[in-house]
Amino acid sequence: MLKEKLFKAVLFISSFCCLTTVQAQTKVNPDSIRNKMQWFADAKLGIFIHWGIYAVNGIDESWSFHNKKISHADYMKQMKGFTASRYNPEEWAALIKESGARYAVITTKHHDGVALWPTKEKHYNVVKNTPAKRDLLTPFYAALNKQGIKRGAYYSLIDWSYPDYPGFLKDSNRYKVADEPQRWQRFQKFNENQINEINVAFKPDLWWFDGDWEHSAEEWDAANIRKSILSLKPDAIINGRLQGYGDYDTPEQNFPVTRPKFNWWELCMTSNSSWGYQPKDTAWKTPYEVITIFADAISNGGNLLLDIGPKEDGTIPPQQIHILKELGKWNHKHEEAIFNTLGGMPQGHFYGPSTLSKDSSILYLFLPGRVNGQVVVKGLKNKIKNIRVVGTSQTLQHKIVGKISWSPVPGLVYINVPPSVQDEYMSVLAVELDGPISLYKGQGGLN
Ligand code: GLC
Repeated sequence: MLKEKLFKAVLFISSFCCLTTVQAQTKVNPDSIRNKMQWFADAKLGIFIHWGIYAVNGIDESWSFHNKKISHADYMKQMKGFTASRYNPEEWAALIKESGARYAVITTKHHDGVALWPTKEKHYNVVKNTPAKRDLLTPFYAALNKQGIKRGAYYSLIDWSYPDYPGFLKDSNRYKVADEPQRWQRFQKFNENQINEINVAFKPDLWWFDGDWEHSAEEWDAANIRKSILSLKPDAIINGRLQGYGDYDTPEQNFPVTRPKFNWWELCMTSNSSWGYQPKDTAWKTPYEVITIFADAISNGGNLLLDIGPKEDGTIPPQQIHILKELGKWNHKHEEAIFNTLGGMPQGHFYGPSTLSKDSSILYLFLPGRVNGQVVVKGLKNKIKNIRVVGTSQTLQHKIVGKISWSPVPGLVYINVPPSVQDEYMSVLAVELDGPISLYKGQGGLN
């Protein structure tokens, strides 16, 4: 059990390491994609949906058979129990809207190979192989469209169920690419066909590839995958799991401590510890935890892709609904400080996350937990015109401490935050400046 967990952990870590290298070797010039990335940079929050036959038994998505917790045959038997009987895509889209998210990414196919759309390829899909008996993607993407939410397609490059895919169980592969190049080509053709089907049917705004670590860019034919997606939809965004041919990076679960250097990045994170529905997993993150993690991501110039895992019947677990609704309330109240903003001040100026208005003349300070008294900003050269508590009509007083008349070093800004104005999760202050923010970066003393 522990060994299996360790194995998975090693894979996760190695995938994370891969990503860092991939980013370093990216084949995409950031200047050439800046325009198409704008909506993504402004969107800040996406909802990730892991929905598949793994919800029937409530076990690890695909990994459970790969890591031999269950046989492949027994894993696939879950197809018989996947009903989607209470699936209401309009309700899903309305909940996503309520959470404040601007985009959603659904698993069109996970590593187990079961497609949620009626693929023309000879392979598993929910229409042919499960009692759901219908295309689950079309109505969801239509509902997202109606809500004005961008549509993302998670697609696993790995397909551990496909007979011509080399990888299968953790300790047994079907074959090696070098030994059977034609077999690999058959897989490539199948893979390209499926990607093309999704592209033609849904024209996703965003592609979320997964599993690129099992093969090289050349083996996946990553350059051509990118090219064919963009030939149909030139402004489609592609995540960083395409061996150097993606547009942004995707740290998974582990939160970056220092600000990532990538131009665009997105933290993907579960709401308990599982991607898919697993009733035994009760390690729910609280709304406070999700909100503070989200604030930290945007403060560092990134996005959050928060995952939910619906049950086999299509209902969303109440704990996840609760997280999304609470997050939505907070987002709605603090909208101006979150969406369409820029990442905030570098570390050292404020003990908490911050963001900036697009013209950098409003500094938003996110106050973690409840503040008892004052908060302080260091090294702010600007004059402060006004301080507001976002989402309320309150204004606050501040005091400049330690400013020496003959020194250019700015004083400390102490802001008094009475408990009565504070939000139940995370209060946000809007510090209106006399112009674009200007920060002192020296070591103190005379200059
Ligand atoms: C991992 C896992 C997968 C999950 C994904 C989400 O790479 O392989 O199960 O879907 O992360 O980021």
